[in-house]
Amino acid sequence: MPSGKPNHRVRTLIDQATIEARVAELAADIDRDYEGSEGLIAIGVLKGSVFFFTDLVKRLRMPLAIDFFQTTSYGAGTTAGEVRIKRDIDLSVRGKDVLLVEDIVDTGWTLRTILDLFRFRGARSVRLCALLDKHEAREAEVPIDYCGFRIGREFVVGYGLDYGERYRNLPYIGVVEFLEEGQQQ
Ligand code: IMP
Ligand code: MG
Repeated sequence: MPSGKPNHRVRTLIDQATIEARVAELAADIDRDYEGSEGLIAIGVLKGSVFFFTDLVKRLRMPLAIDFFQTTSYGAGTTAGEVRIKRDIDLSVRGKDVLLVEDIVDTGWTLRTILDLFRFRGARSVRLCALLDKHEAREAEVPIDYCGFRIGREFVVGYGLDYGERYRNLPYIGVVEFLEEGQQQ
């Protein structure tokens, strides 16, 4: 473990029960919209969406396949043309309905890139489901078909989201608050 006093603390923003209830609502909306669809592929964007993805997909009733996609971006933030594929999906999306499941849409470049890629590969439809929408930070236009919660520009962790790989296992979503020197944790 790193030594020294932590320079931040985590304040609860969305508690576990609120997340659970919203995930159930999103699943009901998705079930309704995809009724009759035979070829749905639910694709989780690693690693941040992993808990949201499994909670959501377990509630869906239509037949579906699952797959995972992982990206990286270089530099401090995500920028246009800098989203790289770290792990591609195994399945073919040609002729299939794709539901992309992401933890958070920030600048939008990650999802914009994946969305365009799956369309290029011949998916019949591509829809997005994002747990969190940081809409004020948007740079690339991304239509979110199913959105859990809209939040501000704050940096959030938990329920899959990390700060330097920490806090992914928190069962709730919290805001990282950075502390001044000497401030209580
Ligand atoms: P984008 O800027 O929309 O391309 O988002 C890129 C990725 O940055 C997201 O999928 C998250 O993994 C990560 N990210 C953006 N905002 C936050 C945050 O507040 N906490 C943790 N990860 C974040
Ligand atoms: Mg992500």
